[in-house]
Amino acid sequence: MKRILVTGGAGFIGSAVIAHLQRAGHEIFVIDNLSFGNRQFINVDDKHFFNADILDENRMDEIIGSIRPNIIIHLAAIHFIPYCNQHPYESSNINIRGTIHILKAARKYKPEKVFFASTAAVYPIYDNAVNETFATGPMDIYGLSKLTGEHLCNEFHLQSQIPVVVCRFFNAFGPNETNPHLIPEIQKQVLEGKRKIQLGNLTPKRDFIHTFDMAAAVETLLTQVKEGIHTFNLGRGIEYSVTEIVDAFSKAIGEKIEIEVDPARVRKVERQHLLADVSKLKSLGWEPKIGIEEGIKTLVQ
Ligand SMILES: NC(=O)c1ccc[n+]([C@@H]2O[C@H](COP(=O)([O-])OP(=O)(O)OC[C@H]3O[C@@H](n4cnc5c(N)ncnc54)[C@H](O)[C@@H]3O)[C@@H](O)[C@H]2O)c1
Repeated sequence: MKRILVTGGAGFIGSAVIAHLQRAGHEIFVIDNLSFGNRQFINVDDKHFFNADILDENRMDEIIGSIRPNIIIHLAAIHFIPYCNQHPYESSNINIRGTIHILKAARKYKPEKVFFASTAAVYPIYDNAVNETFATGPMDIYGLSKLTGEHLCNEFHLQSQIPVVVCRFFNAFGPNETNPHLIPEIQKQVLEGKRKIQLGNLTPKRDFIHTFDMAAAVETLLTQVKEGIHTFNLGRGIEYSVTEIVDAFSKAIGEKIEIEVDPARVRKVERQHLLADVSKLKSLGWEPKIGIEEGIKTLVQ
């Protein structure tokens, strides 16, 4: 049993990671300012929950000093790309300065391991599956802020020798979505009873990974990575188009759903492909289990 601190634990991915680690018997602590997260998403009592902002350096030092976690999983960030583009200062400040504060406290209180949530957005456009050795080249402020976080982790590791896992998450889906991404948007319109739904770009393909599979991957990485700093892609390794996602909803409800392109939703800059090569992670024994159809079926239910 480990004492595990999850920053941003009340969020979409954090809530799945926490439930998984609790089932594995770990003691979980959470720092979250609830700006996007929800206290109800997690089963953590008030003694283990700290409503605090990672921008507050002294408070981070105080909290981490009082918890003395064995492991820090740093998920707190602003990550919805349109929001980051509209609020570049706020989002880069939280994603970079906030990360500096967590790593500074980690240097002082020396956990056994640090896990950093990075993103597929650190990669430029590639037409084929990307592996971790591909050159990075973020296309937006969000990807740039996360790539900076990776550099900060590297510096932290060199100075402290504390093992670090840098995990590049691809597109997550599952329960407890906090941001208006594609799948919750379709879900919302379908559950409102619409059978002709309004969407933006239809051609881009994305690698969707269920948060339960992500949570299992986090556990695998925490167990298996014992030294050094290692970067892993975390995706499903399968690309799905918008039309395929809508078809999965059609199947789940047993009714036909039509798509109408809403020009107001069309993003001007959009990657056509984003596909993970996850062989490095799979070599540690992890396998994703939940496919898009099954995942969407449970969402609709
Ligand atoms: N959802 C995805 O598809 C995806 C893809 C790639 C990477 N990621 C990364 O995974 C991590 C978790 O993302 P998510 O999808 O669960 O998003 P989320 O917004 O649901 O979770 C982030 C959590 O951090 C908290 N938070 C934000 N700013 C904070 C601050 N200043 N102080 C304290 N807490 C703060 C929010 O309240 C929220 O609970 C993030 O680092 C994100 O960048 C997510």
